[in-house]
Amino acid sequence: MPHEVQGVVARRKGAPVTVETVLVPDPGPGEALVQVQACGVCHTDLHYREGGISDDFPFLLGHEAAGVVEAVGPGVTDVAPGDFVVLNWRAVCGRCRACLKGKPWYCFDTHNATQRMTLADGTELSPALGIGAFLEKTLVAAGQCTKVDPAAEPAVAGLLGCGVMAGIGAAVNTGNVGRGDSVAVIGCGGVGNAAIAGSRIAGATTIIAVDVDARKLEWARGLGATHTVDGGTEDVVARIRELTGGFGADVVVDAVGRPETYQQAFYARDLAGTVVLVGVPAPDVTLELPMIEVFGRGGALKSSWYGDCLPSRDFPTLIDLYRQGRFDLDAFVSETIGIGDVEAAFERMRRGEVLRSVVVL
Ligand SMILES: NC(=O)c1ccc[n+]([C@@H]2O[C@H](COP(=O)([O-])OP(=O)(O)OC[C@H]3O[C@@H](n4cnc5c(N)ncnc54)[C@H](O)[C@@H]3O)[C@@H](O)[C@H]2O)c1
Ligand SMILES: [Zn+2]
Ligand SMILES: [Zn+2]
Repeated sequence: MPHEVQGVVARRKGAPVTVETVLVPDPGPGEALVQVQACGVCHTDLHYREGGISDDFPFLLGHEAAGVVEAVGPGVTDVAPGDFVVLNWRAVCGRCRACLKGKPWYCFDTHNATQRMTLADGTELSPALGIGAFLEKTLVAAGQCTKVDPAAEPAVAGLLGCGVMAGIGAAVNTGNVGRGDSVAVIGCGGVGNAAIAGSRIAGATTIIAVDVDARKLEWARGLGATHTVDGGTEDVVARIRELTGGFGADVVVDAVGRPETYQQAFYARDLAGTVVLVGVPAPDVTLELPMIEVFGRGGALKSSWYGDCLPSRDFPTLIDLYRQGRFDLDAFVSETIGIGDVEAAFERMRRGEVLRSVVVL
């Protein structure tokens, strides 16, 4: 018998989301049924409902979640009913060329649950990022569940499932930020501020936050920025060079994803430095750079998918750091809301009033 639960659905492009009855099958082979306890509202959920990701409406939104495993299907051994887990977007295959090279964070053949969740009339839903967790119970591939310390509040633990992990990983995994490095982060929303927090944990000594919104810069200071730059009024490249002895930063993270911010990142890094693009560009945007500068400046221009994270390594570690008071995950939770408040949370996000609204179920 499928489970009948309430969830947040985007039925049509641009239409406000609605709370609907959703039918969730019992877990089949390799699947897990998770009782969702909390799920953050991420910019990507809004992109889905605006039709910016694909046209596979209706979408079941929510993908930044923590909860308790309620049941597992045949063959599942890594998680069991009662486990407190953080969900990730995709279970890795273990067999593709990336996995076989020992780089599972690049896995080119990831998977989600095989069975589909539906509306009451049988219409199949497309779960956001293969999760769909503004929902009392969701069905995922068991490999999307990572066990963490159950002493952590679900509202904070769930944030590791997307934006916070993407930001920390962009700095630490992709950018390889280390002790004594200088780092600049352009765009200090949930992702950029997490890159700042990650840089502090990794031992960076100069951490420069750039945003056009003063509120974001204030939050960035709280999370570890040593300097802030107003991207709306100041010359971003000149200021970052000035704050790094005239040279530029070792690592510059672009957490916006526009040509102008990427160019700032490109010119604001030191010789042989690294640019990390974690902001997702619009599909039709192009970038122009003088090729001689690409060569002459050396270093690396990298993109960061999901912070190049390895959930089994990174989620429990970050929860431990949080529990030890060394990583302020609480600072990312601006408000907790109910399942009926997602549309209002999108508005607050648009106005820049929150780092994260978190739905508590
Ligand atoms: N690569 C990944 O795996 C991954 C994962 C999650 C999110 N993302 C992407 O990361 C980006 C940031 O996500 P978020 O949740 O932090 O969004 P957000 O909207 O909360 O934050 C974006 C920030 O950029 C600032 N900004 C906008 N234009 C700017 C400019 N010209 N200069 C400086 N700052 C500027 C805004 O004021 C805001 O603070 C998005 O593109 C999102 O899709 C990527
Ligand atoms: Zn693989
Ligand atoms: Zn997200």
